Amino acid sequence: MPIVFNNETREFHLYNENISYIIKILKNNQLGHLYFGKKIHHRASFEHLLKVVGRGMTVCVFENDNDFSLENIKQEYPSYGTTDFRYPAHQIRQENGSRVTNFEFVSYNIFKGKENIKDLPATYVECEEEATSIQIKLYDSVMKTELILNYTIFENHSAIARSARFINNGDEKITITNAMSASFELSDDQFEMVQLSGAWTRERHVKVRPLQPGIQSIYSSKGASSSNHNPFIAIKRKETTENSGEAYAMNLVYSGNFLAQIEVDNFELTRMMIGINPFNFEWELSKGNSFETPEAIMVYSDEGLNKMSQTFHNLYNNFLVRGKWKNKPRPILINNWEATYFDFNEEKIVGIAKKAKELGIEMFVLDDGWFGKRNDDTSSLGDWYVNKEKLPNGIDGLSKKIQELGLKFGLWIEPEMINKESELYRVHPDWVIKTPDRNTSYGRNQFVLDFSRKEVVDYIYSAISALLRTSSVSYVKWDMNRNITEAFSIKLPAERQGEIMHRYILGVYDLYERLISDFPDILFESCSGGGGRFDPGMLYYAPQTWTSDDTDAIERLKIQYGTSFAYPLSSMGSHVSAAPNHQVKRLTSIDTRANVALFGTFGYELDLNKISEAEKAKVIKQVEFCKKYRELIVTGDFYRLISPFEKDYNITSWMVVSKDKKRALVGYYQALNYPNQKLTNLKLVGLDENILYTVKQLNLELYGDEMMNLGLVLSNKPEELGLEINENDINDFISYIFEIEEK
Ligand code: GLA
Repeated sequence: MPIVFNNETREFHLYNENISYIIKILKNNQLGHLYFGKKIHHRASFEHLLKVVGRGMTVCVFENDNDFSLENIKQEYPSYGTTDFRYPAHQIRQENGSRVTNFEFVSYNIFKGKENIKDLPATYVECEEEATSIQIKLYDSVMKTELILNYTIFENHSAIARSARFINNGDEKITITNAMSASFELSDDQFEMVQLSGAWTRERHVKVRPLQPGIQSIYSSKGASSSNHNPFIAIKRKETTENSGEAYAMNLVYSGNFLAQIEVDNFELTRMMIGINPFNFEWELSKGNSFETPEAIMVYSDEGLNKMSQTFHNLYNNFLVRGKWKNKPRPILINNWEATYFDFNEEKIVGIAKKAKELGIEMFVLDDGWFGKRNDDTSSLGDWYVNKEKLPNGIDGLSKKIQELGLKFGLWIEPEMINKESELYRVHPDWVIKTPDRNTSYGRNQFVLDFSRKEVVDYIYSAISALLRTSSVSYVKWDMNRNITEAFSIKLPAERQGEIMHRYILGVYDLYERLISDFPDILFESCSGGGGRFDPGMLYYAPQTWTSDDTDAIERLKIQYGTSFAYPLSSMGSHVSAAPNHQVKRLTSIDTRANVALFGTFGYELDLNKISEAEKAKVIKQVEFCKKYRELIVTGDFYRLISPFEKDYNITSWMVVSKDKKRALVGYYQALNYPNQKLTNLKLVGLDENILYTVKQLNLELYGDEMMNLGLVLSNKPEELGLEINENDINDFISYIFEIEEK
């Protein structure tokens, strides 16, 4: 059994082949944390790992015991108010104003498999053998409140899923003001913090900083996980590389406000936690009610950052993504957004779709602008019926036409939003999130619907489901283009206004759940001004996310590289768009644009009638190439080779290797050209050292060990590599793809 409780020493040991996680019930019956890291032998006692050292000026728990202070002991789910002065993982306010908690161990329950978390996305297992779980029950006798800490350790994965549930059994009303999903502590602070931060159109750039005493954190207060910071945090040793060394990571399965925080205390203990952002958050719990935190995924790697990322990728592909598209190659699509923006009619759309079909593309996606009176972004969100001036045959008629061409049909929606200029607003101005007596701020001319209210979600559900029922839609792009301000719900009493941000996300999840169960064949792609809500919570409902509104290939290198720290290629929507690029005006070859987009869920987003015949011929080849490799992209192991965040941002490289190591695909990208270059030895990883492979583009046969130790010898001159010379090669923004296959 990979979870063991020793009754005498009162220790829990969760372990699998790769990792160990050890918890101890302390002398005061609270839970202490002993160890998280590489698997260690199970033994009768881990008592020696708990060092209780008395220190001057500490406040201690018991009379006549000058040693036992929570301040000096690693905590499992720390509380504030007794002897630990660090930032806690939870806090509750009682009716009398007290904020002290003391949750003591009561019992535990170990079982095979994993339980769901009510109303929240979470990892799951399909067969009981894939994971073992434990629920540890703690109790605060003053508040008569239970705290259940849930842990699941996955078989064969260096990952633990955690969450917490509070149940109020007492008579008084309590208010949760902080409820993190998970917290753990390490015995030293010799780490660097890794975060994925940015902004709209430059999401998830990798930032690294050494840990310092005190608090370092990232968070969102925008009502979505946001493009400012991703709900992911890692720490790594200074010497950790992509392929060696230790790293610990946490990722929150949640799409709303989060906090990911590391505190280094004055004795160099490192406390790391993640959960709902306590800022502006409160949750009232009256008798008999419970509150569940979202799930946190904790990953350990002693084989560098690539291994850390692969653990997340495998976990999400197998135990988070659901439905028919799980582990399946996705259709190659053409989206009309950057081709037409709002300016289209049926003829134009069918024209693009026809050309797409000729070139081998499989799905047409109609983006924003098809409903109400929407000819720009000032109106009609909320009016989910077709604009007959643009599309006289309706979505139904258009989707049939597209299908007759032999393409699937996809549709854009933004269900959480409303424009003042809409029929819906005229009828329900009160459905908007706004604070009484205050200005209501505008974002992209729109307001946010109050999804904390069931009747609002019910209405949107009936509108969208009617639409999907009456047309042949195979794919839905679900957008969300502004953040929440003036957060207030007229349906919540004064003392519950702190609940709105979480209730909003629960409403979003509720709508997703209803729609995916009604339409199990539809492939959902989530989007939030690009990657403003790229998180594991969304992946539970929508297996892919539009990675960024920046479609420039060179910018995308950084965005996709950073995104891959936690998220699999199968989740990253990536398209070939026009040149010059619409966001940065950069000119890149259609080859380089495709070579970047290929490492994701591939598609096009330009007017195929406006490209040259030579480029059309290339598109045909790219589509064929993608069809050949998309299964490998979805199911293979992804390795980052060269970071665009280092060495003047000039070179990026990555590769995907099939699970059986017989095939691989390498992407190599150089941003700026420069004269008289050195040769590059591009060292590959993840191959089988004993297999003799062919490297198609180099016309070479090489053993895995050669490619991993010596590397592929590259220059920036395609002719020297025996590669076909294209008009934009021997220039800036060149790229190569290498196909590697067992001979
Ligand atoms: C957002 C999306 C884009 C596009 C537009 C439409 O910005 O990220 O891809 O769908 O909305 O308004």
